[in-house]
Amino acid sequence: MKVFLKLAGTLNYPVFIVTAADGEQREGCVIGFASQTSFEPARFLACLSRANRTYRFASKVDALTVHLVPREATQLVELFGGQTGDEVDKFARCAWRAGPRGLPILAACPTWFAGTIVERIDLGDHVGHLLEPFAAELQNGEITYFQDVKDIDPGHPA
Ligand SMILES: Cc1cc2nc3c(=O)[nH]c(=O)nc-3n(C[C@H](O)[C@H](O)[C@H](O)COP(=O)(O)O)c2cc1C
Repeated sequence: MKVFLKLAGTLNYPVFIVTAADGEQREGCVIGFASQTSFEPARFLACLSRANRTYRFASKVDALTVHLVPREATQLVELFGGQTGDEVDKFARCAWRAGPRGLPILAACPTWFAGTIVERIDLGDHVGHLLEPFAAELQNGEITYFQDVKDIDPGHPA
């Protein structure tokens, strides 16, 4: 539906960087398809494209980190959204630490939460990962939105 896709391209919403780890390896990518879905219980839906390495990796883990991206860290959107872990080690190219349950926390993104994957939902070419947050940190500041970065070519076509 061409007009719908054009319309969707005019929308604006935050973009996030999702990361995951299994104790040995870590993966992550930019997502724009994401939303809080409930206050009580707290729930957030993070949608991963079946084409992405991060999606394949997320099927083997039970939790994800979701980072907001400060305006001054927009270059991380190039790294995590414009490159694929099939070809580059993204975590060798940025600063990060192991956070709760070993999840990778990106140094340049001080606002993040970590959530347990409580459900995986078939949503078409993306799979919704419904998260129950169990840890979070918040710092005020300008964040990156879809309209700021929509010209970046995804590392994997959706
Ligand atoms: C602005 C923007 C929004 C994106 N939104 C999503 C998204 O909602 N879900 C997703 O899985 N990928 C999304 N992507 C694409 C992935 O971030 C991209 O294909 C990435 O290179 C995949 O890396 P991986 O193969 O290492 O997982 C988006 C990319 C950009 C630049």
